[in-house]
Amino acid sequence: MNFHNKTVWITGASSGIGKGLALAFSKQGANIIISARNEAKLKEVKLVCKNPDRVQILPLDLADFSTFQEKTKAANNFFNGIDILINNGGISQRSYAVDTELKVDQQIFEVNYFGTIALTKIVLPYFISKKQGQIVVISSIMGKLGTPLRSAYAASKHALHGFFDSLRAELYHDHIAVTIICPGYVNTNVSKNALTADGSKFNEMDEATAKGLSPEEFANKALKVIDKQKKEVIIAGFREKAAVYLKRFFPSVLANAIKKVNVT
Ligand SMILES: NC(=O)c1ccc[n+]([C@@H]2O[C@H](COP(=O)([O-])OP(=O)(O)OC[C@H]3O[C@@H](n4cnc5c(N)ncnc54)[C@H](OP(=O)(O)O)[C@@H]3O)[C@@H](O)[C@H]2O)c1
Repeated sequence: MNFHNKTVWITGASSGIGKGLALAFSKQGANIIISARNEAKLKEVKLVCKNPDRVQILPLDLADFSTFQEKTKAANNFFNGIDILINNGGISQRSYAVDTELKVDQQIFEVNYFGTIALTKIVLPYFISKKQGQIVVISSIMGKLGTPLRSAYAASKHALHGFFDSLRAELYHDHIAVTIICPGYVNTNVSKNALTADGSKFNEMDEATAKGLSPEEFANKALKVIDKQKKEVIIAGFREKAAVYLKRFFPSVLANAIKKVNVT
C-alpha cells in the first residue's frame, strides 16, 4: 500500500471505525489529521498512533458547517495539503419512524448527510486545483437497504450514495477518486451513541454490533480498498452482503425476510 507521506483527514476519529482507520494509516507512515467533537478522546487516539508526531488534532462538529472553511484551511496548512478526505463521522438511530420526532430525523441528516457533503464541497476546490485527491465515504449496509428502527439513518446513508455517485462522475476528468465503503456490523459504540425517538442516546450495546468485525480488522480491509481507489465496496459478514444482493436482484424476497427479522 502506498500511503507513506500521504496526508489523510479523518472525521469521526475519536472512536470506533475512525480511530481504527487513524491507527492503520499511522502504521503505513501517513500524516493524519483527526477530527471529531471530543478533543480529549482525539488526544488519546493521537497518543496510541504509531507516529504521534505526525498526527494533528482538529476538533470539528459536523453539524456546524460555518466552521468548515476555516477548519479546511487549518487542515491544509498542517502538512502542506490533503491527499485523502475520509468522511466517517456519523450517528445511528434506534427508533420507529412513527415515534421519531422530526428534529431527530433532521439531526441525523445534519451530521450524516449535510455535514459530510458540506465538508466535501469545501475540500473539493483544493483537490480540483491540483487535479489529485480521493474522497472516501463511510456509508453502511443501511445505505443499500432499510430495516426497522433505522428510517432516518438509512435515508441519510442512501442520500450519500446519490450525492457521491453523481460527484464521482463529475470529477472523472479531474482525476479525483470517490470511494464509498459500506460496513456491516463493526464492534464500536455506534449503538450506544445512536439516537432514540426523542433524540436521547440509546446507550446500549447491540448484540450484533458486539459480534461484528473489530475496528482494526475493518480498517485493514478498508485501507486495501482505499489504496485501490475502488468505487464502492461492502465490508461485511455473509448475511449482510447477501441482504444487499437480495435487495438488488430479488427485492420482494428481502422485503418479506426483513419484516420477520428481529433487528435491534
Ligand atoms: N459500527 C458499525 O457497525 C457501523 C456500520 C455501518 C456504518 N457505520 C458508520 O461508521 C461511521 C463511524 O461510526 P462508528 O461505528 O465508529 O461509531 P462511533 O464509535 O459512535 O463513532 C462515531 C464517530 O463519529 C463522531 N461524530 C458523531 N457526531 C459527530 C458530530 N456532530 N461532529 C463530528 N463528529 C461526530 C464521533 O465523535 P464525537 O462524538 O467525538 O464527535 C465518533 O468519532 C459512522 O458513519 C457510522 O454510520 C458503522
